[in-house]
This record gives sequence, structure tokens and C-alpha cells, in this order.
Amino acid sequence: MSRTLNGIVAVCPDMGIGRKGHLPWHPKKLRKELKYFQKMTMTTTVQGRENVVIMGRKTWFSIPESNRPLPDRINIVLSRNLRYPPAGAHYSASDFGSALHLLDTSELAGKVDQVWIIGGSCLYKELMESSHHQRLFVTRVLQQFHCDMFMPTISLDKYQLLPEFPGVPQGMQEEEGIQYQIEVYERRSNANHGI
Ligand SMILES: NC(=O)c1ccc[n+]([C@@H]2O[C@H](COP(=O)([O-])OP(=O)(O)OC[C@H]3O[C@@H](n4cnc5c(N)ncnc54)[C@H](OP(=O)(O)O)[C@@H]3O)[C@@H](O)[C@H]2O)c1
Repeated sequence: MSRTLNGIVAVCPDMGIGRKGHLPWHPKKLRKELKYFQKMTMTTTVQGRENVVIMGRKTWFSIPESNRPLPDRINIVLSRNLRYPPAGAHYSASDFGSALHLLDTSELAGKVDQVWIIGGSCLYKELMESSHHQRLFVTRVLQQFHCDMFMPTISLDKYQLLPEFPGVPQGMQEEEGIQYQIEVYERRSNANHGI
């Protein structure tokens, strides 16, 4: 079954997404932006179903333990080494394809609504290289912070910027003296799959 995959990320001007296991602006917190992340990844379109969040092992462990698993979402953690889901996670998978296959198993097929890829850098790359229909929800943080993890550049040949999207705040936002804007991109149907 072909699904829409949603990626969600907050990114610095140089496409940096993290530093030393934290968000680049750590210890500052963009609380409204986190609320937006929560709302987007949690809100379902089908009653009785839950959304899925798929993440890499390091992203899982970057979430404070008290907030894991992300509530009211099915949490899938990718790892090539873990034999079992880390404590609190619902499922683990050894590669991106297996994580997506899990969603079609009899255990999950009737339970899953939307699928959200929430990082880190390899997961965003895999998403953007996949042939699935996809949307990227990108918080453009306008201030540069030093980063050691990055996501690929979003090419307008492959993605179109949507003028608006339900539930996504429009215009300039500011918290903690940090300005950001939220953009939503949709993969063009004629795009090649490479980055
Ligand atoms: N700005 C944002 O929106 C955002 C979002 C998410 C994360 N982050 C930040 O990004 C950093 C964490 O991301 P990261 O890129 O370093 O790590 P990550 O992708 O979260 O985790 C990397 C690990 O995940 C597993 N993994 C990744 N791709 C896999 C695949 N295709 N198949 C199987 N396993 C796979 C591997 O685990 P094993 O080593 O166990 O095999 C790999 O070592 C943190 O700084 C975090 O704060 C930022």
C-alpha cells in the first residue's frame, strides 16, 4: 500500500538539526514549536487510530526519559543493533523498509493513521530518497547555531512549497529571541528519487 510519509524537522540555515545529541538551540526550548510538533504528529484523521512516529535510536534517546514514548503515538525506533525495542518504545526495526512493513502487519494495519518521520539525519535522508509520496514540515530557524548533524537540502525541483497547510502557523514566529517560520513541502509527483 502506498502511504504518504510526513517528515517533520526544525532546521538551522545551514540545514543543521542537532549538536551533541541535543537540538541546536539547547538549552533554550522553543515551547510553542514543540507544541506544534506534538499537535501535528498526534492529530489523527481517523477516529480510533493512532499516528506513528519513526525515529533513529539517537533521536529516541535525545527525548527526555519522562517524555518517552511520545504519548498517543506508536513509537518505532530504528537500530541495526538493538534486538528489542528500547524500554518504553513500542517497536524497533532494523531498517527503514522493515519499519514501513511493520505498519502493514495484521497487528498494526487497522490501528495506524498517519506516519511521521521525526529524525535524525539518516532517517530524513532515507525519507527523501524514498519513492513514497511525502510531505516535509520544516521549521526554518533563522538564527545559525553550531551543528554536528544535518539533513539534506530541499530542492525545489523535487518539492513544491505549499502556500498553507491546515494546523500550520503562518508567518514569522519568535520564542526565546529566536525567529522561525514553518514551511510545508510536498514531493512533486514527477521527481526523481535521488536527492
Ligand atoms: N532538529 C530536529 O528537528 C531534530 C529531529 C530529530 C533529531 N534531532 C537531533 O539529531 C540528533 C540525533 O540524530 P542523529 O542523526 O545523530 O541520529 P538518529 O538518526 O536519531 O540515530 C542514529 C541511529 O539510528 C539507527 N539508524 C539510523 N538509520 C537507520 C536505518 N536506516 N536502519 C537502521 N537503523 C538506523 C542507528 O542505530 P544503531 O547505531 O543502534 O544501529 C543509528 O546509529 C540529536 O542531536 C537530536 O537532537 C533534531
